[in-house]
Amino acid sequence: MQRIELLASLSRGSNSLLDLGCDHAYVLIEAIKKYDVKRGIASDISSGPLKMAKENIIKSNLDDKIDVIQSDGFTNINLDFDTCIIAGMGGLLIKDIIDKGLNKLNNKKLILEPNNKQYELRKYLNQNGFKIIDEYSLFDQQKYYEVIVVIKDKQDLNEFELKYGPYLLLKREEDFLKYYKDKYNFLNNIYNDITDPIERNNKKELLNDYKAILEDNYGEKIHFKHN
Ligand SMILES: C[S@@+](CC[C@H](N)C(=O)[O-])C[C@H]1O[C@@H](n2cnc3c(N)ncnc32)[C@H](O)[C@@H]1O
Repeated sequence: MQRIELLASLSRGSNSLLDLGCDHAYVLIEAIKKYDVKRGIASDISSGPLKMAKENIIKSNLDDKIDVIQSDGFTNINLDFDTCIIAGMGGLLIKDIIDKGLNKLNNKKLILEPNNKQYELRKYLNQNGFKIIDEYSLFDQQKYYEVIVVIKDKQDLNEFELKYGPYLLLKREEDFLKYYKDKYNFLNNIYNDITDPIERNNKKELLNDYKAILEDNYGEKIHFKHN
């Protein structure tokens, strides 16, 4: 899967990679095998996924390099790590996990892949001393994903940047543009059938946002600059 490959590649060179909510542990296994990650911690809240993770780790001959820990978020994570992946969960759950583990996140890199509520997660990060340092977009098996990489630092993003992703807007990756092209076409097709004035207004604003993205015409909407 391209999504797993992307997540693993983003942890390249980590000395200790924590995969929180690891499920099958495919990301960790791939990261150690292919991307020069030295050690890993496979962690999940549930014993079922952890059993499967353990089996996969043993099959891959990596049981001397990966610790397996049952934990709700960061609660039982006392081993050191420099990079943490939290992927394949709702954005609000990721936000809660980060919020409860804040004291363990100084000087760490977080690789986040929320499967919804990206705006709410970015907003939380922006308000709580995290800085987005890169973002990625991809379609994998016809599903669209966004990956957000953050460190503890200051950043001040505006609403448009929080909604659509500062680096996604800047990088204009093919999959990001395809996603908004599809959304624009869908909404444009049904727009004339919407009769409620408030609903029409909201959808018009969305259409304008999507148009600005597709035409690379953000005007005053973004102030973010890569640094
Ligand atoms: C859909 S799987 C994603 C697996 C993998 N991270 C990926 O992206 O392919 C979500 C996993 O998160 C785990 N999970 C949910 N809430 C959690 C929490 N509070 N702490 C740790 N793991 C959690 C679930 O048990 C499940 O195995």
